[in-house]
Amino acid sequence: MRVFVTGATGALGRYLVPGLVAAGHEVTATTRTPGKVAQLRQAGAEPVVVDGLDREGVIAAVKSAAPEVIVHEMTALAGLRSLRNPDKTFAATNELRTRGTDNLLAAAGQAGTRRVIAQGYAGAGPDRRSGPLKTEEDPPDWRPIRSAVQGPAAIAYVEKTVPAEAPEGLVLRYGGFYGPGASDFLLEMLRKRQVPVIGGGTGVWSFIEITDAAAATIAAVEHGAPGLYNVVDDDPAPVAEWLPYLAKVAGAKPPLRVPAWLGRLLAGEFVVSQMTTSRGFSNEKARKELSWEPRYASWREGFRAWVSG
Ligand SMILES: NC(=O)c1ccc[n+]([C@@H]2O[C@H](COP(=O)([O-])OP(=O)(O)OC[C@H]3O[C@@H](n4cnc5c(N)ncnc54)[C@H](OP(=O)(O)O)[C@@H]3O)[C@@H](O)[C@H]2O)c1
Repeated sequence: MRVFVTGATGALGRYLVPGLVAAGHEVTATTRTPGKVAQLRQAGAEPVVVDGLDREGVIAAVKSAAPEVIVHEMTALAGLRSLRNPDKTFAATNELRTRGTDNLLAAAGQAGTRRVIAQGYAGAGPDRRSGPLKTEEDPPDWRPIRSAVQGPAAIAYVEKTVPAEAPEGLVLRYGGFYGPGASDFLLEMLRKRQVPVIGGGTGVWSFIEITDAAAATIAAVEHGAPGLYNVVDDDPAPVAEWLPYLAKVAGAKPPLRVPAWLGRLLAGEFVVSQMTTSRGFSNEKARKELSWEPRYASWREGFRAWVSG
């Protein structure tokens, strides 16, 4: 199939593009940076330089490639450090999730593209309280936090708009990425003991190794009914379990433990919620309907491979 990949140079795109090419697809891949064209060509794609927020540019690029499938992996998360003010930190990503999505859907309409796959989110959020795993029937439903209003709205926008407006719209809610080239900042911060377990670490996180996320995306290019899919591993776990484990395999000292009030002062309300009330996600639907299974069923073996790789 002809597949148009945006965000092709990102943490996920770097594995997705060669994976699609190896599976026999004809890939057009975007970047905003002419200097990255060679790397896309080397991965086997036809490169296009375009900004996802340039509506006319996006429409022209998609019409020229005439893809059967569009994959939206545009985010602006590189260099992310503080989550004290999420709406500020994620402003550009939120724009890509709203206006960037609209541009791709308009382009799909004009080019006659059948399937549009967009990046959703099954990572840690400020859930109202810990509880059972979320299925695709469960909306993100985060607790409103004054500094984090636009992010949840942008994610909800993708979940609503893509399945409603594309002939076949799929949203892949990825768990927290880790693996080669993904979330390396977390390892750095852990080694500096800058990531404490806050308030008992009862928040449950779902992870997905980055090449497993790419494999699920390739599966979604090829089959699966329209709708939402949780792309996470089999082992959602509380912060109090996975964080000390990652520190250990990374050769760092055990993370510090701080009470919630101090966590609020140090990192802000959003992070405290992620660490105390976040809920995990079930991957039952993705396993069944995408005929996909994660190579790393648990972050336990995945983290070890990441750190030793
Ligand atoms: N669920 C999760 O946990 C999750 C999800 C996403 C990312 N992350 C993490 O966030 C970190 C950074 O992610 P990343 O390396 O993928 O970098 P990133 O800066 O988020 O960029 C991702 C992709 O989006 C493209 N992009 C950004 N702005 C664009 C725009 N205006 N128009 C078109 N394309 C645009 C970039 O392309 P060009 O720069 O080539 O134009 C790049 O290919 C990683 O550690 C990753 O693991 C986590």
